[in-house]
Amino acid sequence: MLPFLLRTKVFALSLFLYLSSTSVAFGESCGCSSLVIPVHVDVLIPKDPADPFGGLKSNASSLRRLDETYSVFGVFCQPNIVSPKSADIIQLLVHGFSYTNQYWSPATEEFRNYSYTGFTCNRGLSSLAIDLVGVGLSTRPVNASDVQYATTAAAVSQLARHLKTTSILPGVHPFKKVIGIGHSAGSIVLNFGAIVEGAQSPFDGLILTGELIVEPGTPIPVPLTAARDDTPLRWGNLDPDYVTTSSRSTFYSPDPTSFSSRMFIFDNFTKDVGSLATALQVGATSLMTHYTGPVAKVVGSKDQLFCAGTGRCVDVAALTAAERVLWPEAQSFDVMVAQGSGHDLNLDFFAEGPFNTLVHLVEQFTGV
Ligand SMILES: *[C@@H]1O[C@H](CO)[C@@H](O)[C@H](O)[C@H]1NC(C)=O
Ligand SMILES: *[C@@H]1O[C@H](CO)[C@@H](O)[C@H](O)[C@H]1NC(C)=O
Ligand SMILES: *[C@@H]1O[C@H](CO)[C@@H](O)[C@H](O)[C@H]1NC(C)=O
Ligand SMILES: *[C@@H]1O[C@H](CO)[C@@H](O)[C@H](O)[C@H]1NC(C)=O
Repeated sequence: MLPFLLRTKVFALSLFLYLSSTSVAFGESCGCSSLVIPVHVDVLIPKDPADPFGGLKSNASSLRRLDETYSVFGVFCQPNIVSPKSADIIQLLVHGFSYTNQYWSPATEEFRNYSYTGFTCNRGLSSLAIDLVGVGLSTRPVNASDVQYATTAAAVSQLARHLKTTSILPGVHPFKKVIGIGHSAGSIVLNFGAIVEGAQSPFDGLILTGELIVEPGTPIPVPLTAARDDTPLRWGNLDPDYVTTSSRSTFYSPDPTSFSSRMFIFDNFTKDVGSLATALQVGATSLMTHYTGPVAKVVGSKDQLFCAGTGRCVDVAALTAAERVLWPEAQSFDVMVAQGSGHDLNLDFFAEGPFNTLVHLVEQFTGV
């Protein structure tokens, strides 16, 4: 079960960006390694991938068993100098629909300062940013209907358990605390896992960004096309139920001055695929969870999927009350609205605000 070390590289983060910060950085550079971790999934998933609740309300006869081992690709980043306390903590970063691990660290020099991975590493915290099953460099099942929230949530939970029991790299001890941080559909993956596992969840805290309750059947305002039609050269052989976004404008604020137009182009060129099932099963977020750890949701006030134009995120106390109903046993529950941010909180000019919020939450949840 040892991960395979593919390559190791060290990147130095430009120190000047962090001089204004009040947090003390443990070091100005980080070591990052790409890993592949085998994860065993044995779950019941809906026979109908369009089931709006992802199988959470299904009876046995409408479910089928999926028993597979997948390779999960991830980029692990660790400060060169870790304090003994933060050495026990890892953030498991889960990207959203049609993104990859690169959402947490855009792989281009120009957008290096949009790296949450780098930001958090400079504040002494380790992270593992994964590609979900079906995406990027992780296993892509031939049949897209195998990739449902029940599948990816189980894979992510198994991975969290792996991080707590097994050394992922020579010299890196198993972690005592795993904080799950999701974005958009990645937050739904973590939310789904919390519904399934409740108090048995391996996560010591959940931070769900770009995700609020979605009533089943609500159309998500993101245009989807079969990936094989969108980019035949790259995805021509895929099951047509692997889909991608034909326009990504709703992932950004309606205010075009709030993000770099070059980021928009970069984002379009680096998009990946997702399964149609995970686009349809978002109603699972309307179900209750008995998760007992601390939880926070962070959403942008200009998020076109949830907030902008809806009035839903104006009264934060009311929004928090509405969301908290589904997390009755959470140790703590907060909703934060990042002013000015779009759905992709990490990729616009306001990103540093949410970055600080996330680091603060991780510190609060782990007592660092
Ligand atoms: C199980 O669920 C399916 C789909 O919702 C439904 O058609 C069927 O009647 C249910 N079967 C039983 C035994 O409840
Ligand atoms: C995918 O798997 C499901 C369930 O086993 C099956 O009904 C469907 O026909 C498969 N699709 C393809 C393209 O093989
Ligand atoms: C996105 O990139 C594709 C090429 O991959 C290009 O054809 C398309 O015009 C781009 N769309 C936008 C909105 O930039
Ligand atoms: C990255 O740099 C740009 C240009 O200097 C700035 O506007 C943006 O806020 C920065 N992003 C972050 C996350 O610090």
